[in-house]
Amino acid sequence: MSTVTPIIDHVEDLWPSEGAPDDALGQLVLASHLLGANRAVSNFGGGNTSAKGTTIDHTGREINAMWVKGSGSDLATMGPEHFTGLKLDEILPLLDREEMSDEDMVAYLAQSQLDPKMPRASIETLLHAFVPAPHVHHTHPDGINVLAGTADGERLIAECFGDEAAWIPYIRPGFTLSKQVGLAVRDNPNLKLVVLAKHGLIVWGETAEEAYRKTIEVINQAVAFVNEKTGDVSRFGGRKVEPAGSLQELLPAIRGAVSSERAKVLTVDTSERVMEFVCSEQAERLVKVGAPCPDHLVHTKRLPLWISRENATPEKIAELAEQYRADYRAYFESFAGEGDVAGDPDPRVVLVEGMGLVSTGTTTKLSKVSRDLYHRAIEVIAGAEALGEFVSLDAAESFAIEYWPLELYKLAQAPKPGELQGKVALVTGGAGGIGRAIIDTLASAGACVVSFDLDAEGAADAVAAYGDRGVAVAGDVTSEDAVAEAFRAAVEAFGGVDIVVSNAGIASSSSIEETSLAEWNRNHAILTTGYFLVSREAFKVLKAQDTGGSVVFIASKNSLVAGKNAAAYSSAKAAELHLARCLAEEGGAHGIRVNTVNPDAVLQGSKIWGSSWREERAAAYNLDPEQLDEHYRQRNTLKVSIYPGDIAEAVIHFASERRSGKSTGNILNVDGGVPAAYSR
Ligand SMILES: NC(=O)c1ccc[n+]([C@@H]2O[C@H](COP(=O)([O-])OP(=O)(O)OC[C@H]3O[C@@H](n4cnc5c(N)ncnc54)[C@H](O)[C@@H]3O)[C@@H](O)[C@H]2O)c1
Ligand SMILES: [Zn+2]
Repeated sequence: MSTVTPIIDHVEDLWPSEGAPDDALGQLVLASHLLGANRAVSNFGGGNTSAKGTTIDHTGREINAMWVKGSGSDLATMGPEHFTGLKLDEILPLLDREEMSDEDMVAYLAQSQLDPKMPRASIETLLHAFVPAPHVHHTHPDGINVLAGTADGERLIAECFGDEAAWIPYIRPGFTLSKQVGLAVRDNPNLKLVVLAKHGLIVWGETAEEAYRKTIEVINQAVAFVNEKTGDVSRFGGRKVEPAGSLQELLPAIRGAVSSERAKVLTVDTSERVMEFVCSEQAERLVKVGAPCPDHLVHTKRLPLWISRENATPEKIAELAEQYRADYRAYFESFAGEGDVAGDPDPRVVLVEGMGLVSTGTTTKLSKVSRDLYHRAIEVIAGAEALGEFVSLDAAESFAIEYWPLELYKLAQAPKPGELQGKVALVTGGAGGIGRAIIDTLASAGACVVSFDLDAEGAADAVAAYGDRGVAVAGDVTSEDAVAEAFRAAVEAFGGVDIVVSNAGIASSSSIEETSLAEWNRNHAILTTGYFLVSREAFKVLKAQDTGGSVVFIASKNSLVAGKNAAAYSSAKAAELHLARCLAEEGGAHGIRVNTVNPDAVLQGSKIWGSSWREERAAAYNLDPEQLDEHYRQRNTLKVSIYPGDIAEAVIHFASERRSGKSTGNILNVDGGVPAAYSR
């Protein structure tokens, strides 16, 4: 028994011993979930399943039908509504055709849907139709793809499965591939599986359970065969370098380098399998071969960006990313046909030797999809290379998939990008009335948000609705360490930050003789020192990214207007304002804009106004506390109340390059008009 790690992992049969639904569609959904539950069986968005049976059409007649996965859904999470029902008797005669273009195929299938409102049928629908079995499962499992992706794959598949397997040389999915598969199965009743070179597996059965169990069975047969053959081979030729260095420190530079046309969110992966790969002898050569499955291409591109140990510096990373884009544009130029529009040229997967993998995407979801697919790539490359030589789709085949309208259609299913998609915003005082409104407004525009506040629970609550797009950090803006930690968390979660809103605050009110030194120091510590510390960390990350950025201070009308009995607060707010202007000067050369929003009298949701400040202000004006709302409304020129959302609208103005890309050192008063605050 060898002590070397097996080249490829065995997969579990997850079919429940009892409780499976007894209807065909229910079983189909269950089988899909189980296939998708193990990404070594079916990668995200990849693979498809179908069931054939009878149904009653809109005229009341019983007809033969097929339900197949709709384009753009994921097996792991799809429900019955994500399947498309088709009139099978209209589709089967297509088997007699010699050829059919993608456009004709899509149009034909659309006409044959049971209901036009169902999703568009999978790209691989005809393959399912032409295989004469009630249930068909098509997956891209690691265990099969190591064989399908090795130079000697055809011979090895024959050795492993004998005449139970058919081998189909690589061809892009579509009518022709579907017909080849259908004929192979029809011509050979002993067949149990079809292997598509550099692509995946097709298995079928009388029931969903049978098709599922056979899928798992043949994968494990392949796994055992591969591990037996490669028993003493170490993955990727063993270790070349020891893990060393901090990927975290390089992330802002990487993020800047891969955000040339669109801001990207990064996902870091230093898992065992990734580290084994990026530390290995052969990784640098293997990453240049290409993707192991057509399904990966739109999310990983054909090639990742490889950064060797000696190149792991911000300057070199920027240069290598530039080179990557030049190569990508050349690849586009060589293969593009009429009507092809070049996609984003930045890499989706970055591998840093000895440090780990960084995936990129315009959303956290897309970034994680690239990461997950590259996990599959690593496994397939390991196996295929151990067996002989890993082979991939060549550049032309890859381009044909990456720019295939039917693949692009899947991507087009995603919702329209928000104005701040791919951007990362850090908001201090995120648990407060105004802070929460800012978080909601920026997040609704698509930004990832980091909420930083003394109040841990409130900070977490403010981002709870945003899933992995939101991160909460508890801490004090007056602490150097806590502020550094907040930025560290932003970098770890998203790779960096673009928008920093310094908003944490308190207020106090007293005449000068009654202002204690402690009160004075507290105002200045939070409102001045705190804003300095946050800006200092912000500038470090923004400069490392080298993609500009927006810093917004939430000061106050009091930064401009002198009022009675709030000297500590107002002088600290004035210092904030001037700090912003100084930093605008320092940031300009780096495209970092620094602007100030001055609220006034935002009573709703504010903890400040829930505290003694309300009584203190009321006392200063000789009013009852409940008369304050009306007092403030009547005090401004427009006679309006100011709400947290109004402040947030001013923040998004300064946060957005499109709206205010040419404004810095500016002030936007959101106070209903206070003549003494009119800036000049
Ligand atoms: N509400 C108004 O009328 C008004 C007017 C002018 C300016 N402002 C300014 O707007 C900002 C937000 O105020 P708000 O009305 O939302 O108040 P708020 O009290 O509701 O929110 C302020 C948040 O800052 C947090 N915070 C306080 N000290 C902190 C520290 N040391 N470290 C980290 N977090 C800290 C608090 O926990 C709170 O969640 C403040 O800077 C305030 O001065 C508010
Ligand atoms: Zn496929």
